[in-house]
Amino acid sequence: MGFDAEGARGMADVCAILAGDTVPPPPEYFDSGSENPGSEPVSKHCMISPDYARAEARHLWRKVWQMACRERAIPEVGDYTVYDILDQSVIVVRTGQQEFSAYHNVCQHRGIRLVTQAGKLGERGQFMCPFHGWCYDRQGKLKALPRAWDFPSLDPAKVALPALKVDCWDGWVFVNFDPDAAPLADYLGDMLPRHFALWPQAERHLVSHAAKIIRCNWKAAFEAFLEVYHVPVTHPTGGQFATDIATKYDEFGSHGRMHLLKFHAPKGVSEQDLVDHWIGMGLAAGKDDIPQVPQGRRARGVLADYQRNQYSRRTGRDFSRFSDAEMLDTLEYFVFPNFAPWGGFGTNLAYRVRPNREDPDSCLFEVMVTAPDPAGEKPADAPPTLLAEGASWMEAPGMSGLGKILDEDVANLERVQQGLHSDGYHTMHFARYQERLIRHLHRTVDAYLAAGES
Ligand code: FES
Ligand SMILES: [Fe+2]
Repeated sequence: MGFDAEGARGMADVCAILAGDTVPPPPEYFDSGSENPGSEPVSKHCMISPDYARAEARHLWRKVWQMACRERAIPEVGDYTVYDILDQSVIVVRTGQQEFSAYHNVCQHRGIRLVTQAGKLGERGQFMCPFHGWCYDRQGKLKALPRAWDFPSLDPAKVALPALKVDCWDGWVFVNFDPDAAPLADYLGDMLPRHFALWPQAERHLVSHAAKIIRCNWKAAFEAFLEVYHVPVTHPTGGQFATDIATKYDEFGSHGRMHLLKFHAPKGVSEQDLVDHWIGMGLAAGKDDIPQVPQGRRARGVLADYQRNQYSRRTGRDFSRFSDAEMLDTLEYFVFPNFAPWGGFGTNLAYRVRPNREDPDSCLFEVMVTAPDPAGEKPADAPPTLLAEGASWMEAPGMSGLGKILDEDVANLERVQQGLHSDGYHTMHFARYQERLIRHLHRTVDAYLAAGES
């Protein structure tokens, strides 16, 4: 069967299953991207070339809106954190109840990095440089210049930390290095904010947050989470939850979405096996009272009921109106170029990947696990843990069974990067349907580079 028939069948399968769920999802689940994915091979150059990495640094990372931190990471006025990208460092500070500023993290005297980690502005509300004591307020203005008489050609009123554009979306703070950048709302388009209004991320907290340097190109790491084609082979145990074709891929402008349906049993796997396995892996909302699948029902509906009950018990909220898909499925959104928050109400993740300085062969990969806030509460986010390169993701606090799956994913990546350097390999062959989001990522990065160089 050719692509058009097979791909169309995949999409139709997903939509038919959704429509037949015990509680069908809202219309946003049926939205479709309009891109023609194409099927041409893509040169490996963009994955290994230092020149290409330098061009990305100039024309991509200095132009895009990029997620810098959670609003909740800096909950009080005067709280700040540090966001590093390439060889740049940015301070993000909460300047008001719902106001944030971002500054280049560099003292304007001799250029030292002003702060090295998250913190709180003290009583005086100022950043004090550790070298000679120049002080900046939370608006970035120079407020104290020790021995000012010694700087006759400097007007302290004109000295400030250079600001970056900053804006928020649904609990995430974004920054942009480009002073002429269009607003974040334009960058995101209407699809993502409309979809996430269903499951606000601002009303969730991080239960786990871990990061690790991975010896592969940042795009290779991100791509491992933009397709389900690898699941049956890379995740031989987890692969029981889904068949690779029961996934819908859509592009929304520069961004996209991958909707992986759960519990679409391949041959030989019983509905009860699916339930036992998923709960046993620690991926459900609880571990107790493993439900039995009654005659004539599907694991999908039974587990959705289980999730609704677990979440209601845990948060004190009523989840009965939420659909099976919102309770169970992996609904991964892709915010170009490097951020992937999941939608729905299940055990949700968010990924972020950044190049490791301008090295085309390494990146910093982060995984955040989010959960809905209990009614009336706003728990603090789990602090980030930087794992050693050889460490298992299972060592990250709160990662539980997900760590095993992440280890399986990451185990491929270093070998991918080694293979990309092989003289016997030249072009990447992305599947037209299942790897369309990867192709879309490459196409969009290329467009930024072309625009920057024109
Ligand atoms: S480098 Fe900051 S005060 Fe001198
Ligand atoms: Fe995977």
